Amino acid sequence: MSCNSQKKTASDDLTIDYQIQSSYILFPVEEKAPEIKIKVCTSETNDRPIYDVHLALNHIDYWVPLDVKKWRGQKLALSFQGMHESSLGINEIKQTNRFDFNYNETYRPQFHFSPEHGWMNDPNGMVYLDGEYHLFYQYNPYGSMWGNMHWGHAVSTDMVSWTYLPIAIAPDSLGTIFSGSAVVDVNNTAGFGKNAMIAIYTSNGKTQQQSISYSTDKGRTFVKYAHNPVLRNPGIADFRDPKVSWNEASRQWVMALATKQTITFYGSPDMKAWTKLSEFGEGIGSHTGVWECPDLFPLNFKGKTKWILLVSSGGVPNGGTATQYFIGTFDGTRFTADPLPYPLWVDYGRDNYAGVTWGNLPSKDGRRIFLGWMSNWDYANQSPTQNFRSAMTVPRELTLMNNGKHLILANYPTIEVNTLRGSGKTFPNQQIEKEVTIPELLKVNGGTYEIEMSIKPDKTSIFGFGLTNTKGEYLNFTFDLTSNQFRIDRHKSGKVDFNDKFKAGMSAPLVKRNTYTIRLLIDKASAEIFINKGELAMTTLFFPCEIMNKMTFFSPEGKWNAENITIYNIK
Ligand code: FRU
Repeated sequence: MSCNSQKKTASDDLTIDYQIQSSYILFPVEEKAPEIKIKVCTSETNDRPIYDVHLALNHIDYWVPLDVKKWRGQKLALSFQGMHESSLGINEIKQTNRFDFNYNETYRPQFHFSPEHGWMNDPNGMVYLDGEYHLFYQYNPYGSMWGNMHWGHAVSTDMVSWTYLPIAIAPDSLGTIFSGSAVVDVNNTAGFGKNAMIAIYTSNGKTQQQSISYSTDKGRTFVKYAHNPVLRNPGIADFRDPKVSWNEASRQWVMALATKQTITFYGSPDMKAWTKLSEFGEGIGSHTGVWECPDLFPLNFKGKTKWILLVSSGGVPNGGTATQYFIGTFDGTRFTADPLPYPLWVDYGRDNYAGVTWGNLPSKDGRRIFLGWMSNWDYANQSPTQNFRSAMTVPRELTLMNNGKHLILANYPTIEVNTLRGSGKTFPNQQIEKEVTIPELLKVNGGTYEIEMSIKPDKTSIFGFGLTNTKGEYLNFTFDLTSNQFRIDRHKSGKVDFNDKFKAGMSAPLVKRNTYTIRLLIDKASAEIFINKGELAMTTLFFPCEIMNKMTFFSPEGKWNAENITIYNIK
């Protein structure tokens, strides 16, 4: 793209000089308009940024801000690919000193992390340092659909309330910034300084290669390593999402990298020079889609160390994308899976993808904590929000459990999530025959609450419960002990027509038990259900047209009992 001339150029780009008087330039966006390239023309750097923006043609859906503080008082030229001066998008561009974020949108989560504005997908670079949990994330600041991948950044002291920080890593001449991880270099192996935070990510340009950036101020600013990429592409189109941790057994950094439909492990003494160690995945697990976002970490089970490998992938049984896992051993160079009935899924709902775990937690903590992206590539770009799109799951502790047949990876909200609870309200135990309704869950219900109860099936085989509202919309949870399945039905849960694939239900294998404990977290447009302390976890989005403040219990045949039913307002 050319920046050279004022107004129209031969290549049909329109270049306009703006006299910068404010902090932001606002671009008007129409999501259905084609994407055009906007180039920031500066002489300062060779990395002249180009952004893809759905610049408005017919009407304006929302605005996106370009931070121009550093050019205040100067002229800044912007070049617009193929645009005409008289088009709506160009005419409406304006400057402002404030860009306010709105947290009152109907579907804005209140206790889950969501971006201030714009699009978010995978959690990245999750690392703990000096009392702060860092969360970086795949971020498009210039639209609420996927594109322009940056690393957004937030920090928290408890993983439940977050402080936004400026964008951490922006695209450069090697490409946009895809998913990856971060480490704390305690022994200064890379020479960037003791305890430097080093981010390692995929540069997505002509090919996918791995690059590093480092921070010596606790993640506040990052410097790109001068000799990127540190791992070049060997000719594999899908070669991405490095997850790195220090491996004591082989005394080196070990990277798990998604390589088409396998995970390749690499080793390095210094984060800069990488050698291939081994490859895992052929002929095992689900291979219906490309493999992405791996994570490899140890977990203790009854005094023994097991290694867990997480792999996110597409084409999964419930539709779209989900995260599978393997349990096995890792000797410092090679992962070997125990014989288990793979594929096994971290979360059987449709809206938990690309999740990985925090690194560098203090050893006295001893937990392994996971966070996933609450969406699904089948419909993520169309979900019915506009100023921001998507949220993360609550932080969940991963543990190994025996489900009566074999080891499984359980996941359950971390203890910090309990601090969100307001006062509880308890309902009488219910014996359900046909149908029972609680007509009002909370006097004042803002759409953020938590429900706990115990379920005793007695002799029933198909039974369940649902959240509903006065519009007759419902989100149903059904136990089916004839087919040993647990199902979620959201096809009448509110707005479901924004994508054909959204309505479809979802199911999970269910182990027969005399009692099932339920914990259900609701945050405006998401439901996370945990059965028997995370033996089964399912996450689903739903977009009700009115808050669901009623609960029904149903039993087409036979009787069952719901006990200790408690609802908590979320503070
Ligand atoms: C997973 C993913 C990653 C990639 C990123 C791009 O959701 O496709 O493999 O790095 O998203 O945003």
